[in-house]
Amino acid sequence: MRIDPPDYVKNTKLIEWVRETAELCQPDSIIWCDGTQEEYDTLCQEMVDSGTFTRLSDEKRPNSFLCRSDPSDVARVEDRTYICSLRRQDAGPTNNWVPPKEMKATLKELYSGCMKGRTMYVIPFSMGPLGSHIAHIGVEITDSPYVVVNMRIMTRMGRKVMDILADGRDFVHCLHSVGAPLEKGAQDVPWPCNDQKYIVHFPEERSIMSFGSGYGGNALLGKKCFALRIASSMARDEGWLAEHMLILCVESPDGEKTYVAAAFPSACGKTNFAMLIPPDSFEGWKVTTIGDDIAWIKPAEDGRLHAINPEYGFFGVAPGTSVKTNPNAMATLSANCIYTNVALTPEGDVWWEGMTDTPPESLIDWQGNAWTPDAGRPAAHPNARFTSPASQCPSIDPEWENPAGVPIDAFIFGGRRSNLVPLVYQSPNWYFGVYLAATMGSEKTAAAAGKIGEVRRDPFAMLPFCGYHMGDYFTHWLHVGRLLQEPPRIFGVNWFRKDENGKFLWPGFGENMRVLKWIVDRVHGRSSAVESPLGWMPKYESMEWDGLDEFTLDDFSKLMAVDREDWKKELLSHEALFEKIYDKLPKEFSHIRELLLSTFWLSPEHWGLAQERYTGEHH
Ligand code: GTP
Ligand code: SPV
Ligand code: MN
Repeated sequence: MRIDPPDYVKNTKLIEWVRETAELCQPDSIIWCDGTQEEYDTLCQEMVDSGTFTRLSDEKRPNSFLCRSDPSDVARVEDRTYICSLRRQDAGPTNNWVPPKEMKATLKELYSGCMKGRTMYVIPFSMGPLGSHIAHIGVEITDSPYVVVNMRIMTRMGRKVMDILADGRDFVHCLHSVGAPLEKGAQDVPWPCNDQKYIVHFPEERSIMSFGSGYGGNALLGKKCFALRIASSMARDEGWLAEHMLILCVESPDGEKTYVAAAFPSACGKTNFAMLIPPDSFEGWKVTTIGDDIAWIKPAEDGRLHAINPEYGFFGVAPGTSVKTNPNAMATLSANCIYTNVALTPEGDVWWEGMTDTPPESLIDWQGNAWTPDAGRPAAHPNARFTSPASQCPSIDPEWENPAGVPIDAFIFGGRRSNLVPLVYQSPNWYFGVYLAATMGSEKTAAAAGKIGEVRRDPFAMLPFCGYHMGDYFTHWLHVGRLLQEPPRIFGVNWFRKDENGKFLWPGFGENMRVLKWIVDRVHGRSSAVESPLGWMPKYESMEWDGLDEFTLDDFSKLMAVDREDWKKELLSHEALFEKIYDKLPKEFSHIRELLLSTFWLSPEHWGLAQERYTGEHH
C-alpha cells in the first residue's frame, strides 16, 4: 500500500512503522497530520457532517463541539489495561500482565484489517515544550478523527514535531484503533468502538497499543499511557518521577512564590485545586496554574526537584464545574473546546449537573434523548469531560512552558474519604510522607469503569497509572528523597469528609486556600502546628478564618478528629497492600506502620489528652 509521506517526513523508523501498520490495519487512506488550524477545522467539520460532532452555538461557545460517545465507552477500563514487561515481576501485582509475545499475537489478530474503510492518521506530538531537554516525543497512529482533534488540544502536535524527528531519533510508538472496520457500503455509527478492549504497554520497547475504545485515557495515548505509564518506567530507569499530579504556584502579597504539586485520584479535585481562586479575605494572595493532571519531576542542579506539565490542554471532569466552584475553568471553556458526553441546551450551549443551581427546563441528554429535570437520571454522564487549551486558562502561570520547570517545595496527597481522614496533616519527614502517599485510600469515582464509592488503596493516586512494580515505585520515591538537599515537605489532605447526615464537613473549592496557606506557611517555617499521631496538624488558631465566620471551632474539631479505633483498623488494613507487594516492600514501611500503631495504642485516658492538643478543645 502507498503511504506517501510528505517531503518533510524524514524519520526512516517512522516511515517504516507507518508502512508496517498500514499493511496490518489496511486503512483506505493515510493522513499525515500537520497540526494546523485548517486541518483541525476540516476534521471537526467532517465529524459534524458525519453526525459524530454537534457544532455548538457560535455566540455561546464559538468554535466548540459536542460529542456523544457510545454508552458502553465512557471511561478508562482498568481491567483491560496491561503492562506487558518482559518479566512478570516488573509489572508487579497491581498491574495486569501477559507475556509480551502472547499479547502481541492476540493484538496482531485484532489489528488485522481493523482500519478497513477508514482513514489512518499519523500524529507526531511532544509531551513537554518543544525542544526542551525534559520533553519526549511520541507518534500516535489512529483511525479516529476525534483522537486527532483532541490530541491537538492536549499535546504540542504537528509539523514542528516532525521536524524534530527528522534527525532520525526514536519516539514512543502509540498505536490506536477503535476496532471497528467499515465494510464497503456499510453505514458508519457516530462513535465506533469494539466490545473487546485492550490498553497495552510494552515498557522495555516504550510502545503502546490500544484497541477498541475511543475515550479519553484509553485513546489519547500521550496522556495516561505515555506521560504516566511509560514515562514512570523511563523515570525509574533515569532517576526522575512521572506523577498523577497538578502543579500550582502560590504567590503571597509580598511576591514570594511557592510551587506545590498535588496528587489526588481521578475525579478527586486536581483541576479545581490547580485553578483555585482565594476567598476575598486573602487580599494580595494569588494562585496560578502550571498543570492539572500530570507532572514530570526531575532533580536539578540546585539540589531541588523541578517539575513540568507535559500536557498542552485540560481533559477535565465537567460535572460539578461552575462559576462558583471553578470560575477559571469556566472561563477556559468559553471557546475552542470539545465536550464529550455533556447535555445540550435548546440554545446550542452545553450543560451538566452542578453547572447551575437550577437545571434548564429541557435538554438533550448525553445519550441524545430528550431530558427534563424530573427525568430521574443525570443529563450529563458523571465522567463527561471537556477538552480545552491550557493557554486559555486565566490563571495559567507565566512559567507554565518553562522547559526547566518550576522548583517544588511541597507535595500534597489527598483521597476522597467520607470519614476517618482529617482535613490536613503534615508528615514528620520524607519517609513518613512516602508512607502516607503509598497507603492513601480513596472512594472510587466514575473516571474508571467499576463500582463507585468503594474505598480502595490508591498509592500516590497512581494505582491505575504506574507502569512497573508498585514496590519498586515506593523504593524509587524513597531513593529520590535521599538525594535531595532539602526534600519537599509532604502533606495529606481530605476535602471530602462528611457528617452523620452525609453532608460535606468542609466547604472546599476556593476555601481550600485556607489549607494551602497553612501548608505554604509550614514550608517557610511560619505557621505553628501541634503533634498528632499522624504528624503535624494546624490548631484552629493557626489557620486563617476571616470571611468564613460560620465555620466554628466545633466544626473544625469534627473535621480534624482522629478516631483511635478507626485508625487502628485503617493501619491494620494497610497490611493487605503490603502483603501484596511483600517481596519488594521497602523495609521502612513495616517500621513506620509499627510506630504509628504504637501511637494509636495509647490508653483511652492518654488518647483523650492527646486529642485535646490538636482539636483545640479546652485551651
Ligand atoms: P482527573 O481529571 O480524573 O484526574 O480528576 P481531577 O482530580 O482533576 O478531578 P476534578 O478536579 O475535575 O474533580 C472532579 C470532582 O471533584 C467534581 O465532582 C468536583 O465537584 C469535586 N471537587 C473538586 N474539588 C472539591 C472540593 O474542594 N470539595 C468537594 N466537596 N468536591 C470537590
Ligand atoms: C483520569 O481518569 O485520571 C483522567 C481522565 O485524567 S482520562 O484521561 O480519561 O484518564
Ligand atoms: Mn487524571
